[in-house]
Amino acid sequence: MLKLLIVLGFLILNIVQAKLYYIEVKYPLLGKESPPGSPWPMPHFINGTSDQILLLRKKKFQIKTNLEVQCDIVSENVKHYRNVIFPPKIYNPQRKRLREHKYLNVLSINIAQSKECPKYPHSNMDESYNLTISSNEAKLNANSVWGALRGLETFSQLTYFDTDNKLVMNDSTVIIDKPRFVYRGLLVDTARHFIPVPILKKQIDAMAYHKLNVLHWHIVDDQSFPFELKTYPNVTEKGKYSDAHVYTQNDVKSIVEHARLRGIRVIPEFDTPGHVESFGRAFPEFITVCWKDGKPYQPIFGVQGAAEIINPTNEYVYPVLKDILTEFRDVFPDEYIHLGNDEVYYECWKSNPDIAKWMEKMNFSDYHHLQAYYSSKLLKIVQDLDKKSTVWQDVYDNGVDLQKGTQIQIWKDSSILPEHGTWSDYLNKVTKDGYAAILSSPWYINFISYGYQEWYKFYKVEPLANFTGDAEQAKLLIGGEAAIWSEYVDGGNLDSRLWPRLSAIAERLWSPAHVNDPEEAKFRLDEQRCRLLRRGIVAAPILNGYCGNYEYGMAKSNIFDPVFNYGWPNVQ
Ligand SMILES: *[C@@H]1O[C@H](CO)[C@@H](O)[C@H](O)[C@H]1NC(C)=O
Ligand SMILES: *[C@@H]1O[C@H](CO)[C@@H](O)[C@H](O)[C@H]1NC(C)=O
Ligand SMILES: *[C@@H]1O[C@H](CO)[C@@H](O)[C@H](O)[C@H]1NC(C)=O
Ligand SMILES: *[C@@H]1O[C@H](CO)[C@@H](O)[C@H](O)[C@H]1NC(C)=O
Ligand SMILES: *[C@@H]1O[C@H](CO)[C@@H](O)[C@H](O)[C@H]1NC(C)=O
Ligand SMILES: *[C@@H]1O[C@H](CO)[C@@H](O)[C@H](O)[C@H]1NC(C)=O
Repeated sequence: MLKLLIVLGFLILNIVQAKLYYIEVKYPLLGKESPPGSPWPMPHFINGTSDQILLLRKKKFQIKTNLEVQCDIVSENVKHYRNVIFPPKIYNPQRKRLREHKYLNVLSINIAQSKECPKYPHSNMDESYNLTISSNEAKLNANSVWGALRGLETFSQLTYFDTDNKLVMNDSTVIIDKPRFVYRGLLVDTARHFIPVPILKKQIDAMAYHKLNVLHWHIVDDQSFPFELKTYPNVTEKGKYSDAHVYTQNDVKSIVEHARLRGIRVIPEFDTPGHVESFGRAFPEFITVCWKDGKPYQPIFGVQGAAEIINPTNEYVYPVLKDILTEFRDVFPDEYIHLGNDEVYYECWKSNPDIAKWMEKMNFSDYHHLQAYYSSKLLKIVQDLDKKSTVWQDVYDNGVDLQKGTQIQIWKDSSILPEHGTWSDYLNKVTKDGYAAILSSPWYINFISYGYQEWYKFYKVEPLANFTGDAEQAKLLIGGEAAIWSEYVDGGNLDSRLWPRLSAIAERLWSPAHVNDPEEAKFRLDEQRCRLLRRGIVAAPILNGYCGNYEYGMAKSNIFDPVFNYGWPNVQ
């Protein structure tokens, strides 16, 4: 009893302490405050001195490039970043006399491949760039237009409003920058809740503000099928929530185009054979019939599978899936299609006597063989369509023989389910077998808890922490992807769920591994959060305090408010 009391007392004490720890913000906070104009994510190398402040004037400032070809990716971004750098007035400036100052009038962009305008961002684009501000001159060097885009973002972040409300930046800055990982993604789920087109485009802009480069569009799932299919219109008809909750193919194209101009790939996911309830409404004959007590059509509650797993033994399934994947190929220009293949629970397959008979005929002794049979057919379809596949790790776990180019997305971890290995075990195994791995397990940012400590957790993840592979294997760990599953997210709260929590992950994936101290990062992240707010992204606060003179909803009636008027950086 005494022991129990001590344990209880200890628990209560801990809870109180924990509460205090979260609520009470000690002042001053630990760590060093970041000066204005500090970039996020942190560049590979930065050397700034502050001997001189340069003033930027909207009418005089120019961005020049050495490009010898027309390139919309560059010209659009020159326009976009002018708007980002010189936002419409968001509050009444105090008119003050100017101090002595020097001006910065030109940013010169030098692209080594000056005769090339790539059509679409790709898996091995060169995003490196160097940026120097010296003697009132700004120079941005990049090998490709993609590096120029990333450098423009950094340049825009180096500018800030001084206390006289003038747009300035520091002279004498040298930045040498390149990404740590080539794949830096975000999964959005538009099936559980529909995300309106302008809000998706806004996230794409925010991704570019963090140098993220892949939007994994989990477009359909059990709950709804919001993609306009032309080959089988009844799939959309029966699968959508309502007419308003559909991405027409023109919508999709405009989103892909918006992303292309920001140097962001869009990888669509058509998740099968599980997660297909909405698809199955148009093709009920493709869905496995679950049996119970000798009777067909029995829902098996408590496990997934009652109305949402395709029956791989039905040969009519494959031509239809081929038609749909062909449509995906035609609408999405990326080299990859994501085939899902996660969470295929076998209970329903196991309950079905016809499947058992079929498997006997095929000499399949195990349901893994059945899933492998299905997955292989789909992988072959995608290969025949001249695309590469990404799959959730389940396909690999089930021993499917995969083509070498296949990318495997790691989402499992013993912290999610104890029977799983740790994500580092999976990274070790997958890369050892020669496949490219994308880490997602520790970055399911739909899970929320109280306080800013949460981004600490995302920030502190080190993908290579327990990595045992050699250099060749390390190259196969191509990056990571945050996932925002949308059970409790729609257009209304997406901004504040994503940002700035995703900002933490973006820095982990871009910046060198040693940039990993959240106590150092928190002030800089707070600055990035305020930057987002001024750019119209309703990012959540992480520290007590305030964002300069602008807060959400504070603009006076006759003055532009970036949050209410989102669109000034080219979003229709
Ligand atoms: C950083 O800047 C200082 C002051 O301009 C300079 O002396 C130093 O050489 C620079 N370091 C590097 C590595 O560029
Ligand atoms: C810019 O210059 C100011 C004023 O000299 C200085 O306090 C600040 O640290 C500098 N900012 C950066 C990012 O180096
Ligand atoms: C940036 O500068 C570094 C060091 O001088 C150099 O090795 C690299 O090639 C430069 N990168 C670009 C894109 O110009
Ligand atoms: C949906 O359309 C397809 C192809 O036209 C057809 O095979 C299928 O039976 C239709 N589904 C329903 C439920 O009518
Ligand atoms: C299954 O195994 C039997 C006996 O080895 C063989 O005759 C038959 O061809 C196999 N069937 C298939 C589909 O591989
Ligand atoms: C890495 O290994 C350490 C020591 O075994 C362990 O505590 C930690 O949980 C591991 N991290 C991951 C992500 O597996």
